[in-house]
Amino acid sequence: MFVHRTPPWALPENALTDEREYHSRRLHRRAFLVGAAGLCAAAGGCTRQNEVERLNRGTPGEHLPLSEPWADLDRPGYPAARNHAYALDRPLTPEPAALSHNNFYEFGTQTSAVWRNVAEFLPRPWQVTVTGAVERPMVLDLDDIERLGLEERTYRFRCVEAWAMAVPWTGVPLRKLVERCRPLGKARFVRFVSFHRPSQAPGQRSRKFPWPYYEGLKLKEAVHELALLATGIYGHALPRQNGAPVRLVVPWKYGFKNIKSIARIEFVETLPSTFWNDLVPREYTFDGLVNPQVPHPRWSQAKEKLLGSGAVRATQWLNGYADLLGDLHPRQPRVDGWHQAPLPFKT
Ligand code: MTE
Repeated sequence: MFVHRTPPWALPENALTDEREYHSRRLHRRAFLVGAAGLCAAAGGCTRQNEVERLNRGTPGEHLPLSEPWADLDRPGYPAARNHAYALDRPLTPEPAALSHNNFYEFGTQTSAVWRNVAEFLPRPWQVTVTGAVERPMVLDLDDIERLGLEERTYRFRCVEAWAMAVPWTGVPLRKLVERCRPLGKARFVRFVSFHRPSQAPGQRSRKFPWPYYEGLKLKEAVHELALLATGIYGHALPRQNGAPVRLVVPWKYGFKNIKSIARIEFVETLPSTFWNDLVPREYTFDGLVNPQVPHPRWSQAKEKLLGSGAVRATQWLNGYADLLGDLHPRQPRVDGWHQAPLPFKT
């Protein structure tokens, strides 16, 4: 994984969207789009989808880096009611920045180009197979997951490459899915596997990586209240580049643990191997805990750079979620000389 030092999406600090503005904009946008669609339908001359695409392209400030029609993301149930238990200590990242700076190796290694490379990927319809050491194995489609009860949560997100964002996810607590399939007593870990479709994902045509992407959690982490199965972001369904149609969000761990486009969830007895840990074990651990005092072997983790504004902040132990995690990860491992490691960006 590489750090881009001069991101093309960098916006001045005053371009950050604050939470109140985000809410009023998204409600305004929905009301406006529904109204526009009604007028169109009455005129009989255009479909709602066409109109929405035109508005989405043509409205300054509402222009989003999307490869799919806006209508694909405008699903019933979104935006979901906000769960206010998860407050932020910073403004929300502007949506265009979060949708145009992505790690998704199935679509290439250049973070700024992922959203342009996802057009062939078909995330709907989709099925997630839940299997392994459970009483009730099951196959779920997107509606089934959404029916577990959507809510919106604003979380900080910290990539191991030292960029960070703060976004409103929509999703269901992973615990609800775990409870529904009733893990057997011997299940101790949960393994997640993404899709394998080289014809739709240019990065998967390279044999450099052991596709499909795979990740894992301890079962006790998977049932923690913070672990979210996200199906949406910024009040609409997930766009392809952010892991459509369903991804994991575990905000106290580095971004690479947050597997996108999940196709299979497996309950297992032994520690599952994980994609980046298999590829580069000395750089990426199974736990992937955010820790400012343990540098990546090639750069410091003491600070982070916010997508959009470029503001630099001190990294927080467990990304600021230590209090909520309680005794799940009680000790902060320290490394001598951590403060001398070079930052991966200019300040
Ligand atoms: N999931 C899959 N399937 N493939 C990936 O390459 N990259 C991970 C994670 N999930 C990745 C993935 C990494 S390294 C990060 S930082 C986050 O996705 C980025 O999520 P975002 O693009 O929505 O910000």
